[in-house]
Amino acid sequence: MNIILLGAPGAGKGTQAEVICKALNIPTISTGNMLRAAVKAGTEYGLKAKAAMDAGDLVSDDIVIGILKDRIAEPDAHNGFILDGFPRTLPQAEVLEEMLAKKGIKLDAVIEIQVPDEIIMERILGRYSCMTCGAGYHDKFQKPKVYGVCDVCGGTDFYRRVDDNRATVQNRLVNYRALTYPTIPYFEKKGLLRCVDGTGTIEATSKKIDDLLAVA
Ligand code: AP5
Ligand code: MG
Repeated sequence: MNIILLGAPGAGKGTQAEVICKALNIPTISTGNMLRAAVKAGTEYGLKAKAAMDAGDLVSDDIVIGILKDRIAEPDAHNGFILDGFPRTLPQAEVLEEMLAKKGIKLDAVIEIQVPDEIIMERILGRYSCMTCGAGYHDKFQKPKVYGVCDVCGGTDFYRRVDDNRATVQNRLVNYRALTYPTIPYFEKKGLLRCVDGTGTIEATSKKIDDLLAVA
């Protein structure tokens, strides 16, 4: 299956992508994760992207589209993929459509995870991840089984994202509405949009997505 996950920052795209990826055995392609890796590695892309990411602004379309084109061409994406955080602008959506059409790939569903802003802030400010394997956690909603120990790899070092602070989240929300929101009617017109209420637990949201994908 070829799936896009849309939703505001903190809506749960990364969390749900992890669940779908395990269930369907297809890779998650997260432009946010790829950009953070590029920043960490100090690549040319990373250096250009860092200021925008730290401020909660979008990275330019040409950089993100370049990264996505290379990733989607990798062999593990041939049997399906989950796009997490791409497209985020109308030009990105249009280029994606063109790119997939050339390869004869069809999208199965675009899932918008809907969560109101009051909930978003609490989710993002409580988020942290394992330094070793990247598994995601939350101070209140997704604690590791043993305090301070990663469920997945046993790691004991964790980190919080630089852009997970109140001011940046507010700016990310403004950008989401202004620049990403227009992609929703775009996909709706193509008959691909499916909306999911993401305010319940992680498991409840996964179940809703699972039900949608069963009929996609
Ligand atoms: P990116 O990394 O994509 O960040 P984002 O869109 O701001 O989304 P988040 O990762 O913050 O949230 P999420 O929806 O994945 O939530 P999560 O599952 O972690 O992008 C970062 C930056 O990179 C952008 O600001 C931009 O600069 C740049 N960028 C990336 N892609 C780009 C593009 N295409 N174009 C241009 N620029 C781009 O959940 C959040 C927390 O809540 C977690 O702790 C989780 O445990 C918890 N949680 C999740 N679901 C639930 C639930 N149902 N109940 C309770 N808690 C929950
Ligand atoms: Mg994410």
